[in-house]
Amino acid sequence: MKNFDFRNPTHILFGKGRIADLKDQVPADAKVLVIYGGGSAERTGVLAQVREALAGRTIVEFGGIEPNPRFATALKAVEMIGKEDITFLLAVGGGSVIDATKFIAAAALYDGDPWEILTTHGAVVKGAMPFGSVLTLPATASEMNAGSVITNAEKGAKLPFMSAHCYPAFSVLDPEVTYTLPPRQIANGVADAFVHIIEQYLTYPAAAQVQDGFAETLLRTLIDLGPKALETPKDYDIRANLMWTATLALNGLIGAGVPQDWASHMIGHEITALNDTDHARTLAVVLPSLMNDQRGPKREKLLQYAANVWDIRTGSDDERIDAAIEATRGFFESMGIKTRLGDYDVAASGIDHIVAALKDHGMTALGEHGAITPDDARRILEAAQ
Ligand code: NZQ
Ligand code: ZN
Repeated sequence: MKNFDFRNPTHILFGKGRIADLKDQVPADAKVLVIYGGGSAERTGVLAQVREALAGRTIVEFGGIEPNPRFATALKAVEMIGKEDITFLLAVGGGSVIDATKFIAAAALYDGDPWEILTTHGAVVKGAMPFGSVLTLPATASEMNAGSVITNAEKGAKLPFMSAHCYPAFSVLDPEVTYTLPPRQIANGVADAFVHIIEQYLTYPAAAQVQDGFAETLLRTLIDLGPKALETPKDYDIRANLMWTATLALNGLIGAGVPQDWASHMIGHEITALNDTDHARTLAVVLPSLMNDQRGPKREKLLQYAANVWDIRTGSDDERIDAAIEATRGFFESMGIKTRLGDYDVAASGIDHIVAALKDHGMTALGEHGAITPDDARRILEAAQ
């Protein structure tokens, strides 16, 4: 196992009716900016619950954060913070709203050009405004991590940043607010969480039995409950388990002390920057192809994955690996997520664009060995067509 630091300061308030507890989490004298997305939080009554919990506080609202949140929109919120003397931010939504809020929290205290926060992947962030979240879509674990991904439409760039200053102070996870999710978003959330686990697990053995065991349990839970959530939309226990699984998938716990990959994510971000494909769907395209392409360096973990996650134990090494890759693809497809690049209108010229963008963004040494180059990414994408 590698040396590691593990610290996660986010206070989780999990369960039915927990939005009411916001009153004890948001400082009594705060002037709060409530940040939300395109209107689902209004339609579903989540914002009404938030307003009720914060009755008596001074609240200003900022709606309109897009899926794959835009830099320009986030800057409008930063402007509002200055104008309205805001002291606390509350994100109400999915990963996009929480990611945008992290960026807004950091940009509000940053003196330079805010785009530098993304180009330095967070290195220039020396502080951030305090913020909390009310999660409405289990997927990204943004509710309990310090990462954020922002899209600059003008520059055609979707870049991640991380900063220890950007953990939410608290996050409310009420599984009941996820009942209103359309099937497409339920499936996206399950697939995204699945690939988060894979990025931290499917590398090479690091004698990390506990991390591997947690990761395998989380993967099996998603395989079991993802399709059930689509079949039985209002089952509390299914939603509660999925919600907590997605958070644990990327809150630092299973990634501590182990090598990490993230190549599927970095290649996937360029697909989204190209044509706004849903984040999870880009991963479902890249991952099966990347597993096949990287079967050499990932051999031992692919065999462990086949046995412990899919119960594939017979056949030659290559046959078991083939079966595990097909099972992974079949899992995504069974939830209605297509796994071929052609399903998302990316032609050969699109691959050229993605490869050039990876080079432009310095994504030239990806994967757990830093050995996946843009040329390798081209081969992976061509095989995904
Ligand atoms: O915008 P509104 O109207 O709120 O609707 C949203 C949006 O259209 C809707 N929605 C959310 N909760 C709902 C709901 N609809 C009905 N009922 C509810 N309870 O769902 C749509 C998608 O929301 P979004 O927040 O975009 O989805 P998700 O949570 O999947 O977030 C995706 C973003 O997170 C980034 C992705 O790149 C992408 O930009 N990621 C962030 C990570 C992190 N911070 O650690 C890691 C991930 O790998 C990922 O990159
Ligand atoms: Zn993701």
